[in-house]
Amino acid sequence: MEVQLSTIIFFFITTILVLLTSPTASQITFPPTASPAFSPISDETDYIRTSCETTRYPEICFSTLSNYSYTIHHDPCRLAMMAIHVALSKATHMANYVTNMSNQSLSINTTESLAIQDCSSVFEDAVYEIKKSRKEMKHLGWSGESIKFQLSNVQTWMSAALTNEDTCMDGFEDVADESEMKKDVCDHVVKVMQVTSNALALVNHYADKYSGN
Ligand SMILES: *[C@@H]1O[C@H](CO)[C@@H](O)[C@H](O)[C@H]1NC(C)=O
Ligand SMILES: *[C@@H]1O[C@H](CO)[C@@H](O)[C@H](O)[C@H]1NC(C)=O
Ligand SMILES: *[C@@H]1O[C@H](CO)[C@@H](O)[C@H](O)[C@H]1NC(C)=O
Ligand SMILES: *[C@@H]1O[C@H](CO)[C@@H](O)[C@H](O)[C@H]1NC(C)=O
Repeated sequence: MEVQLSTIIFFFITTILVLLTSPTASQITFPPTASPAFSPISDETDYIRTSCETTRYPEICFSTLSNYSYTIHHDPCRLAMMAIHVALSKATHMANYVTNMSNQSLSINTTESLAIQDCSSVFEDAVYEIKKSRKEMKHLGWSGESIKFQLSNVQTWMSAALTNEDTCMDGFEDVADESEMKKDVCDHVVKVMQVTSNALALVNHYADKYSGN
């Protein structure tokens, strides 16, 4: 009899504890009173906003990276990695787009079609450079090389990617401004260059930590 009673009391207390510690119960008992300015989310986005001020296109930097605030944790390395991820995703999309256009114009011999063929080739190179950069960032400190050396590789490859993207636009110099293709491609490439430039800036900023010996 005594054993059964203590078992019942045990379960009763356990149930109350579970109810009190479950999120619903705590929300009802203790409505959140902290101002949003002190919530972790807002703190994270503030960090991203401040870091983005070191880039050339701070608004674009913030708008493309703020969605990833949950994974950045005030870490300049993770921030640079996410920026590279964004640049890779946009550059890959653009490379597919121009390669498709280029494929359709292979038999056409106009300055426009030659420009798109060159653009396709340099954009594929840009994607390759950004992919190498992403891989190097993932292996920072794990490849036997110094982090300083690895970061200088990333800086080199991201700069090369930016140059390749710019080369695509240069190829349209001799194409008439009325060309729909020129306008379309250049408008899109500018946006890819902005996120690539921002990623490079965030890598540079992180690499500054290692610039001593
Ligand atoms: C960020 O997330 C919001 C809401 O999920 C979405 O509407 C927006 O397109 C995202 N922005 C970017 C740049 O991915
Ligand atoms: C372009 O053509 C190449 C070779 O035919 C093909 O491998 C590739 O998938 C095509 N790319 C696009 C985006 O259409
Ligand atoms: C290539 O472009 C054509 C015509 O614009 C489109 O129908 C097709 O879906 C595109 N293919 C790829 C792989 O983007
Ligand atoms: C393309 O056009 C140029 C001049 O407009 C000509 O010199 C060249 O031979 C042409 N190439 C092909 C493959 O038709």
